[in-house]
Amino acid sequence: MTKQRNTGLSYEKTTALLKTKCFGRDLHIFEKVTSTFDKAKELNLCHGSVVCALSQTNGRGRLGRQWHSDDGGIYFSLIISPEGNTDEFGLYTALCALGVQRALSEYIDCYIKWPNDIVTKDGKKLCGILAKLEFCHGQAGMINIGIGINANTDDFDPSLPYASSLKRLLSRELDENEILASALYEIEKCAECKNREKLIDEFSKVCITLNSKVRAIYTNNEEIRGTAKSVQTDGALVIEKEDGTLVSLNWGEVSVRGIYGENYV
Ligand code: BTN
Repeated sequence: MTKQRNTGLSYEKTTALLKTKCFGRDLHIFEKVTSTFDKAKELNLCHGSVVCALSQTNGRGRLGRQWHSDDGGIYFSLIISPEGNTDEFGLYTALCALGVQRALSEYIDCYIKWPNDIVTKDGKKLCGILAKLEFCHGQAGMINIGIGINANTDDFDPSLPYASSLKRLLSRELDENEILASALYEIEKCAECKNREKLIDEFSKVCITLNSKVRAIYTNNEEIRGTAKSVQTDGALVIEKEDGTLVSLNWGEVSVRGIYGENYV
């Protein structure tokens, strides 16, 4: 299936650019879906399969938010069967963030806002990642990682002042097929790497949250303040509270904000 825009996603173009062994070799591209999460579940896919959509009518973000999913963005779900147990969930989302950060760095200076947003230095959000545990292909504990990259997206809701796109920031259209192929390649390399310490070390170097003052807001609205100190090998963020005690935050438990605004970390 192809799209009129030259830079738009097409099965043929992405496949021709893929350098992966497994990720995206089973590739499904749809014009419009409710959410790639729904489509991937419906298709009952295996490890490494990817479902992409040119637009989503019910794109979902973290903390119950909607994800702006108009034409021009890259919206996909990657199915991963974790080798270890599902405790590695946080780690896999971190690995995906690092893979996408590496891929987008080919175009723009960008960083990871813990746990897995890709932002510019001044907090403009270029990509969001949300993972879910699923039962797929007869196997429990499969991870469906939903990734939304603002590649050539033009219009954003004014209520999202930090949302931006590569096209907006670079003033040119980019080839979505190249970005997707490169992101899958980098994510696969991260997932294959057995040296978790090395990956977390790389993650930490590009994690803009570290060493900044943050507020961590739990789902029950409880809040703690402190300085983000380090990222553990399971992907958890360690915060030093003002009284010097250390607290480790797991992905999904909290929303981490800078003290000067939601995205400013
Ligand atoms: C966030 O809130 O930052 C996470 C956004 C995740 C968006 C992606 S787009 C592909 C996949 N399908 C969805 O409905 N959401 C994720």
